[in-house]
Amino acid sequence: MSATMMQAFVLTRYGGPDAAELRDMPRPRPARGEVLVRVHAAGLNPVDYKTREGMLKVVQRYPLPAVMGNEVAGVVEALGDGVTSFKPGDRVFARMPKGAMGGLAEYAVVPEQFLAKMPVSIDFNTAAGVPLAGLTALQALRDELHVSQGSRVFIPGGAGGVGTFAIQIAKWLGAEVTTTASPRGRALVEALGADVIIDYTNERFEEHLRNMDGAFDLLGGETLLKSFGVVKRGGKVVSIAGMPEPETARKDLGRGLFLITLFWLASYRIRAVARKHGVKYRYLFMHPDGAELAELAGLIDAGTIRPVIDRVFPLKDVAEAFAYLESGRAKGKVVVEIAGASG
Ligand SMILES: NC(=O)c1ccc[n+]([C@@H]2O[C@H](COP(=O)([O-])OP(=O)(O)OC[C@H]3O[C@@H](n4cnc5c(N)ncnc54)[C@H](OP(=O)(O)O)[C@@H]3O)[C@@H](O)[C@H]2O)c1
Repeated sequence: MSATMMQAFVLTRYGGPDAAELRDMPRPRPARGEVLVRVHAAGLNPVDYKTREGMLKVVQRYPLPAVMGNEVAGVVEALGDGVTSFKPGDRVFARMPKGAMGGLAEYAVVPEQFLAKMPVSIDFNTAAGVPLAGLTALQALRDELHVSQGSRVFIPGGAGGVGTFAIQIAKWLGAEVTTTASPRGRALVEALGADVIIDYTNERFEEHLRNMDGAFDLLGGETLLKSFGVVKRGGKVVSIAGMPEPETARKDLGRGLFLITLFWLASYRIRAVARKHGVKYRYLFMHPDGAELAELAGLIDAGTIRPVIDRVFPLKDVAEAFAYLESGRAKGKVVVEIAGASG
């Protein structure tokens, strides 16, 4: 491969699994304030296949072809002008900027403020699974739900990419954590510290739970609607899988009246159920943040949080990695190993 080209997993049109493919693409170059990272591993997230399917076009439409991938771990290769916090050779990780992707490739450029030094106690494959899910859980639980010592928090769907971080972060913040899992995920969520585990395959959580201080919904649909009934009046449900609402457009996306109105309509039924129970509804779109990622790195090195990696696939099998994640059964994170992909 020439020094100006790289291997990358590229979205060529919106659609099913064959809408993205491995190709040679030009290496990106760092602009002012950006860092060029030699990517060793990239994490996968449901947002990747939802983007490929075109489900998120109303929020983000990418000019195609576009290199996919939303989180990376690797080594700093070169710096754009004005970068002061990193130097070539640093081991770093990041959630890629919204609207850019670019992580499923041998090289990626990341704005300095979204990067953090990797935890020293874990390898690249493990670190690549941290940024998106870890930041999502931190932002939902601390910034939106204001979880603190003694909070009783319900986290439906604790065994997946976000759930495995959410349980541990909620415990770190001092909460008593109730989660749902199938028998396949039970031992995992128990090991991560969940206090109460409800087997969703044969029990209805809404028949067991009352007066929770808040819920962090990772599933949407009926689970979200039923979650309002288990939270106390004046409490809050934060979802990352239901319907976006007006604050999502305003606060998370910085968008105007058109999207605010669209999300107001789309979330009408959910907000009506929330109102009936006297509970606030918030749909969060997480954001990249290097300082918060550095905080997570500290928690990992302190042994407070353990990233859970389910499977690692080589770059040549990235389509299989997508299919595995898309099955919806992953326990923890799915990661693609990239370094050395083209020898
Ligand atoms: N808005 C945002 O900023 C944002 C950020 C991150 C993620 N998300 C969204 O959040 C959702 C979760 O993401 P993720 O990365 O955690 O997904 P994931 O890793 O694919 O989640 C898979 C896990 O969900 C469990 N599960 C499936 N159905 C369940 C049910 N009915 N009850 C309880 N557990 C269930 C599965 O366990 P079993 O196999 O044992 O059933 C599996 O372990 C996705 O929709 C994603 O798009 C949004």
